[in-house]
Amino acid sequence: MAVVISGKELALLKRENMAKTIPDLLEKYGRVPHLAVVLIGDDAGSISYVRGKEKGCNEVGIKNTTIVKGTDITEAKLLGLIDELNQDDTVDAILVQLPLPKHIDSDKIINAIDPLKDVDGFHPRNVASLYLNEKCILPCTPKGVIALLDYAGIEIKGKNACVIGRSNIVGMPVAKLLLDRDATVTICHSKTENLKEITSKADILIAAVGKPLFVKEDMVKDGAAVIDVGVNRNPETGKLCGDVDFVNVKGKASFITKVPGGVGPMTITCLLENTIECFIKRMEK
Ligand code: GUN
Repeated sequence: MAVVISGKELALLKRENMAKTIPDLLEKYGRVPHLAVVLIGDDAGSISYVRGKEKGCNEVGIKNTTIVKGTDITEAKLLGLIDELNQDDTVDAILVQLPLPKHIDSDKIINAIDPLKDVDGFHPRNVASLYLNEKCILPCTPKGVIALLDYAGIEIKGKNACVIGRSNIVGMPVAKLLLDRDATVTICHSKTENLKEITSKADILIAAVGKPLFVKEDMVKDGAAVIDVGVNRNPETGKLCGDVDFVNVKGKASFITKVPGGVGPMTITCLLENTIECFIKRMEK
């Protein structure tokens, strides 16, 4: 039976430690880090993420401003808002909640964010830095996945790691971070042939496909560490669930994360860490 790695527990620990650093930052720089979150529309998932971010900021002592706009906002108006936030010296970190409405080009918006305030690590400048091994802001979910593996004491070096999913937000960067830690990494996706054959060789299996309960026990190696990045609705129960069939896979894996309470809290915690990192970098510029 697998040990459940609690993202909730690690997030709490990290948030407590971060909270202790805020008074020192205030004393040293005269203000606390400030995260600006831009939310367009009223997508339930996005609202829930943004609430989690606000709660996290309050717990740690980070200033948080959420700017909410309707889905009818034009691309030009949104670019104007990003420009204002870029120019605002009291804002250290900018997050534009994705997905954006279809009439807005997300790439254009991300490209407009000042790379020094790009708390998600999504700007092409920061993406390039990640792949060139330059010091940079790491995307929050991949950073959280690695933190969970480390917290559980799972050896990464030399291990077979398999990532299911090749998105720019999770699959690709998590694969790069695993490679940086000397894992042998395979990236699988919707066109992969013999998926089961590949996933069952993985000592570390990262599920980031976005399909409810997609990873079944026969896809998992005995004793593997399984990290579930999925956030889905179970089509039968309507409840939140991951990409991994937790109930059945936990009997085969040695470590596993749950949804909710696994990667999710770590994503937000890494966002808080990144906000502090952006702040310090800007203050010391
Ligand atoms: N939507 C879902 N996850 C994320 C994230 O990590 N960052 C942003 N900006 N939007 C998201």
